[in-house]
Amino acid sequence: MIALEASKKVCSVSPKQAAQLGRALTPFFCQGHTLGLAYPATLRIAAAAHQSSFSRPPAARAFSTTSVRELRDVFPAKDTPFIRKTPPAWPHPGYSEEEMLAVTPAHREPKTIGDWVAWKLVRLARWATDLATGIGREQQVDMKNPTTAVAAEKPLTEAQWLVRIIFLESIAGVPGMVGGMLRHLHSLRRLKRDNGWIETLLEESYNERMHLLVFTRMAEPGWFMKTMILGAQGVFFNAMFLSYLISPKICHRFVGYLEEEAVHTYTRLLKEIENGDLPKWSNPKFEVPEIAATYWRMPEGKRTMRDLILYVRADEAVHRGVNHTLGNLNQVEDPNPFVSEYKAGAEHNKPNAALKPTGYERAEVIG
Ligand SMILES: [Fe+2]
Ligand SMILES: [Fe+2]
Repeated sequence: MIALEASKKVCSVSPKQAAQLGRALTPFFCQGHTLGLAYPATLRIAAAAHQSSFSRPPAARAFSTTSVRELRDVFPAKDTPFIRKTPPAWPHPGYSEEEMLAVTPAHREPKTIGDWVAWKLVRLARWATDLATGIGREQQVDMKNPTTAVAAEKPLTEAQWLVRIIFLESIAGVPGMVGGMLRHLHSLRRLKRDNGWIETLLEESYNERMHLLVFTRMAEPGWFMKTMILGAQGVFFNAMFLSYLISPKICHRFVGYLEEEAVHTYTRLLKEIENGDLPKWSNPKFEVPEIAATYWRMPEGKRTMRDLILYVRADEAVHRGVNHTLGNLNQVEDPNPFVSEYKAGAEHNKPNAALKPTGYERAEVIG
């Protein structure tokens, strides 16, 4: 088990939380290691489910593992008299290993003033995230190529990764919901069909929420981080709502750039896992939470942290390609090419979001 927060706070709060969660937590919080925070965002790391066989000598690591009997359910399913289980509403389409390995960080050069504004806003968000995650100078990648360079002098710690990922994913689930909601309302209000955008946007936000839920099985944010998430959502949702009303094109470009950051983040994480820089996640015995294995239908024997990050990164690559493409289309009239059927002879114009990181131009997919 892992605890990362002001140590006194961690140990004193656990019995109360245990009562709330209906799980025995006291040994969970008070054994193992606690670290003073090197950065402001607090995070309690609850070992991911199913790592029971993985154990290391305490002195060698900042993280320790919780045995299965000590794990808590961060969001337990409510037990009801009739319902056995509730599967995901949108089953994941799945990827081949080749598709996942082919994903690479990329950057679409801004071409318009709107693109430039979107890019600079994402740069600002990245700067703020780096600050909140306590990224030191030696942990920075080459800032001239911030979304494509993944090498840094020093790796991030697993705690820094989790703070970064949970914060990123809690934000990433907002734009698709706002865009889908506004297009839905527009369709009702104007008595016009939407041409397939709403479902893709809502599914994107659903997928992002699944990412968040998976990572919160590995860490429970502390009060400070929960407050940051709450504040960020309050501000971001409303900003996105107004911005999408004014310029959905710039909003899709903004999300395209945000997803470039996500692909970059997960590519760097993969590299650090593969380099053996992260003691827990680099261990091939680490097993991902059950919710992840179920959602992505991860095959037996392919459920390491590296496997999980390959799936998540591929999702982000799809969001990147989809949003950069949507940002190139006529927002009112064009159908969503990703869910459209193409005329005979034009099938090769149907886009595959993961294949084109910078998105498709309108002429390529609409004609
Ligand atoms: Fe995500
Ligand atoms: Fe994403």
